Amino acid sequence: MQRKKMVAGNWKMNKNLYEGKQLVSEILERGLFEEDPTVEVVIAPPFTSLELTAEQIKDHKGFYLAAQNCHHEASGAFTGEVSAAMLKGCGVDYVIIGHSERRQYFRETDEMLASKVNAALNCHMKVIFCCGEPLDMREAGNQNDFVGTQIERGVFHLSEKEFADVVIAYEPIWAIGTGLTASDEQAQEMHAFIRSKIAEKYGQDVAEATTILYGGSCKPSNAKSLFACPDVDGGLIGGASLDAKDFAEIVKARM
Ligand code: PGA
Repeated sequence: MQRKKMVAGNWKMNKNLYEGKQLVSEILERGLFEEDPTVEVVIAPPFTSLELTAEQIKDHKGFYLAAQNCHHEASGAFTGEVSAAMLKGCGVDYVIIGHSERRQYFRETDEMLASKVNAALNCHMKVIFCCGEPLDMREAGNQNDFVGTQIERGVFHLSEKEFADVVIAYEPIWAIGTGLTASDEQAQEMHAFIRSKIAEKYGQDVAEATTILYGGSCKPSNAKSLFACPDVDGGLIGGASLDAKDFAEIVKARM
C-alpha cells in the first residue's frame, strides 16, 4: 500500500488576514499540481485566516486546511478557546495537536492532548499529532523512550479505525526554529522506531499505511535528502512555510 505523502505549512502566530491571503495566492499561483496531486499540501494558518484560506483553496486539488489547535471540550465557558466543531464549520480538514510549543508554553499535558485528539476525530477531522524530544533527552540517549511515551499517551487509546485518521509529525524540539536539523540518519532512525511502535500496537499493515512527517528547520536545501529517507513521508514546515517560493520548493522536493 502506497502511503500518503504530505507537506504541511504551520504558520504559527504569523500573518494577518491580508498577509495570509497574499501568501496563499502566491502558493497557488505556483501551479504545483498541473496534473494529479502527488502530495497533500496542508496549510495551517492562524484561526483568523481559516475561513478565507478555505475559500481560496477550495477549487485546488491537493490542498487541505489545518488548524493549529483545538479545545478538548465540545462547548462552554472557555473564554478565548475554539472548539473542534467550530473548526469543522470553517472547512478544516486536519488539526495539529501536541505541538511542542503548545506543550511547553500552554502546559498541554498528555491527557489533555488525548482528549483533543478525540474532539477532533469526533468532529470528522483528521489529526496531525506532534511528538519530539528535548535536547537533554537526546544527549542522554533517551529519545526513543520519550517519543514512544508521547505517542502511547496521545493516540494509542484509539481504535484501529480511528488511528487511520492520524498523521504523526516527529519534531525534535532542538531543531524547531533553531536552524539545527536532524541529520537524515537521525530522522530515519526515529521514523523507523515510530513505525515499529505503531506496528506493535496496530499491526504491520497499519504501520505501513501511516504517514510520518519530519519537522524542525526543514527548508529547500535539506528537504530533498530528508524526504529520500524511506520512513520520512513528508514535512511539517514552520519558518519556511511563510515564504511561497520556499514552501513550493519543499512541496516539489516531496513530489
Ligand atoms: P520550523 O518549525 O520549521 O520553523 O523549525 C517547525 C514546526 O514547529 O512545526
